[in-house]
Amino acid sequence: MTARILCISGPNLQLLGTRQPDVYGRVTLPEIHARLATRGRALGVEVEARQTNHEGTIVDWIGSAPAEGVAGLLLNPGAYTHTSIAILDALSGVALPCVEVHLSNPDAREPFRRRSRVAKACFARVAGFGADSYELALEGLARRIAASRA
Ligand code: DQA
Repeated sequence: MTARILCISGPNLQLLGTRQPDVYGRVTLPEIHARLATRGRALGVEVEARQTNHEGTIVDWIGSAPAEGVAGLLLNPGAYTHTSIAILDALSGVALPCVEVHLSNPDAREPFRRRSRVAKACFARVAGFGADSYELALEGLARRIAASRA
């Protein structure tokens, strides 16, 4: 059965392409989603990608992922990375394999970005590769899911 992967991007990531291009690059979120779909097909997984600016919606999407047959998560929580215990709890609650994704390298930026609240519930983090972070994270997650099914 083809593994389903849910990619969730959080607040302000709908602005990619024009938002601080020196930090986040010029690739738009629809372009990233298209790349994930293409790369997913090559890897033999199905990727559904969503974006929301609302913390509770991220919590809802994570909570309903197992019932939707999702096998793993790619998650860029945006600024909620640094604040959201609700998202941490949602991830811990569903216990799906999750990769934390960032376009920038938060550790190399302001001190308040150095703490990730969600890291504890993620098995890996890919950060600092711009739009490529998403594809690299997908590759790692697909491998992890394949290994767990072997
Ligand atoms: C981000 C990093 C966060 O610190 C920031 O709040 C974002 C984007 C990234 O992808 O680099 O919104 O998650």
